[in-house]
Amino acid sequence: MSPTKPASVTTSNDTNAARRDTLSITDNRTGKQYEVPIQHDTIRALDLRQIKVNDDDFGMMSYDPAFTNTASCISRITFIDGDKGILRYRGYPIEELAEKSTYLETAYLILHGELPTRAQLDDWTYHITHHTFIHESIKKFLDGFHYDAHPMGMIISAVAALSTFYPDAKDIFDESSRQKQTWRLIGKMPTMAAFAYRHTLGMPYAYPDNELSYPGNFLNMLFRTTELKYRPNPTLERALDVLFILHADHEQNCSTSAMRGVGSSQVDPYSAIAAATAALYGPLHGGANEAVLRMLLEIGSVNRVPEYVKHVKAGEKKLMGFGHRVYKNYDPRAKIVKRIAYEVFDVMGRNPLIDIALECERIALEDDYFVKRKLYPNVDFYTGLIYQSMGFPMTMFPVLFAIPRTSGWIAQWQEMLLDPEQKIARPRQIYLGYETRSYIPMDHRS
Ligand code: SDX
Repeated sequence: MSPTKPASVTTSNDTNAARRDTLSITDNRTGKQYEVPIQHDTIRALDLRQIKVNDDDFGMMSYDPAFTNTASCISRITFIDGDKGILRYRGYPIEELAEKSTYLETAYLILHGELPTRAQLDDWTYHITHHTFIHESIKKFLDGFHYDAHPMGMIISAVAALSTFYPDAKDIFDESSRQKQTWRLIGKMPTMAAFAYRHTLGMPYAYPDNELSYPGNFLNMLFRTTELKYRPNPTLERALDVLFILHADHEQNCSTSAMRGVGSSQVDPYSAIAAATAALYGPLHGGANEAVLRMLLEIGSVNRVPEYVKHVKAGEKKLMGFGHRVYKNYDPRAKIVKRIAYEVFDVMGRNPLIDIALECERIALEDDYFVKRKLYPNVDFYTGLIYQSMGFPMTMFPVLFAIPRTSGWIAQWQEMLLDPEQKIARPRQIYLGYETRSYIPMDHRS
């Protein structure tokens, strides 16, 4: 069946229906029966449109606020099994990539579908490394922000501004143009993030050092002061690389849905990435790692955790860093982050907030309120502790999420663009507002 052609209507009691991959639907309003094909354990919402009471009806739709049970696309990039706590990029388990890969290699995998050969990785690394500089005018743009501007607000603006420097990015169906914008975005996001951070400190910008690794150069642009050559601490460099791997993609999350939705209008990728970054900024999404640290600071001590949990169970507060739309088990990334935390603490000293975090986790894993709702630590629960120990201010935490997720957003955007079934995203609605009514002159209004 062609993807857009609705299934046929069957009126007979087709006894073979039970043996076919179809859903037999009876509309009790009319007695009509329909047989709707099932593919990938899914029915096409458009196949419901044929279900009508009167011939001039619009036809049936599905209603799914927040898309809790709606597939918006077919994808081959990331697989998650929320019940089993499984996460794979292009079939490779996150645990193996975190142990054996690097962020740039993982970004290549996510974008191209296969692990790179040595020559491919060298070429990929060369091009990204040579696209870390940003146009000097972007500095003037960043300088226009107040000293206390949130870096996420600065990054959203700066990446959108990049679209004005690269008009060729509008040529989204040209593969070589997409490739160049991909190098530019992955290369420049860390630079803009570091420049935004330095602006908030009133410090001069530290330029990229092409001899350093991707995470090492990011640390260089953030923390270099008077030394001629910045030497990143290898433990922190590797910790950041693994954290970037863990945050590279996560199938159809809120920000990726924004990337796909905005990108479906065929706007340039910089503008779409700005929209995705804005979605990530929210405290329920990428802003959660900042919200977790503020929560731990608000709790203040281990013996005050039970009091806070009481407010959570009363529905007055959320236990930030817990819960997930898909994971109804421990987020596999959170397990790895927790291990990294202790490696960073060995270098930077133990973060005292870890004890409060561990007590929150201990209580949540035992308390029926959380167990019943399957609320487990997610990727954001421990990352803030690491970032704080590494010297990042809380406002930089969501930025540290946006940088690695850029490769996932681009991969998902590209998959959407090349999917023949996709078109401009334009959902329907159930209208329950007023029927038609006449304009009321001002002096007749109550
Ligand atoms: C990320 O989608 C992704 O993949 C995202 C992400 C990625 O890599 O892109 O994994 C990154 O965004 C991780 C999530 C970070 N956000 C937080 O840690 C914020 C706190 N978490 C919650 O806001 C919440 O768990 C969500 C937003 C993550 C998921 O929300 P859902 O799936 O819409 O669940 P829900 O709000 O319907 O909650 C179901 C129940 C509700 O209770 P009842 O109304 O049934 O009584 O669980 C409760 C919620 O109140 N609940 C929580 C809770 N999360 C859900 N109660 C207390 N604390 C929480 N954290």
